[in-house]
Amino acid sequence: MPPMPLSEHVEALLTTADSGRLPIVAAGDPVLRRPAEPVDGQLSDGLLARLVEAMRVTMHAAPGVGLAAPQVGVGLRLAVIEDAATVVEEVRAARGRVPQPFRVLVNPSYEDAGERQVAFYEGCLSVPGYQAVVARHERVRLRALDERGRAVDEEFDGWPARIVQHETDHLNGTLYLDRAELRSLSSTQTRAALERWAQPTPRLAAAELGFALPAAD
Ligand code: NI
Repeated sequence: MPPMPLSEHVEALLTTADSGRLPIVAAGDPVLRRPAEPVDGQLSDGLLARLVEAMRVTMHAAPGVGLAAPQVGVGLRLAVIEDAATVVEEVRAARGRVPQPFRVLVNPSYEDAGERQVAFYEGCLSVPGYQAVVARHERVRLRALDERGRAVDEEFDGWPARIVQHETDHLNGTLYLDRAELRSLSSTQTRAALERWAQPTPRLAAAELGFALPAAD
């Protein structure tokens, strides 16, 4: 049997939505490990808009600050990001956790646009129950299209830069764990576990768990 065209797959997927939410694919599913196909007319404008809306609702419900199409089982280079950044001031200052309005990233790619790497705990909706420290570029240049096909060429820094890198990596079949300091891997399954490394920076975790952080300049 020939594979189902992507548009039929997406139509069928959208009928499974529960209060607008799609099921999130977990690590171990090959769709998270395959490079996603560039968005190039596989879906009609209307179907693409419905998929984006379902991804937005799914991201909010999770809750998360980004969601890539492979995480709902669709192998397209498409992601949504949004972060209300409701964190205390010292966390905001240390992590550059500023609000990121809702954005749709179509066919995104990024490159390093700064001098520094910064390391913080992050997690992924497809790897529930864990977090780990990942060193990432502090600033990146994003090239993409928006949901109307207009070119985007923009620099991001702080936490939004981290979100852009994490979501774009998903479209290349890369999970944050591939880049993580594995000795930092921590459970988030209980409140106590979650709060253990809730400090603004992972400095204490690095000392206690025995891993290195990027050199500060
Ligand atoms: Ni993720």
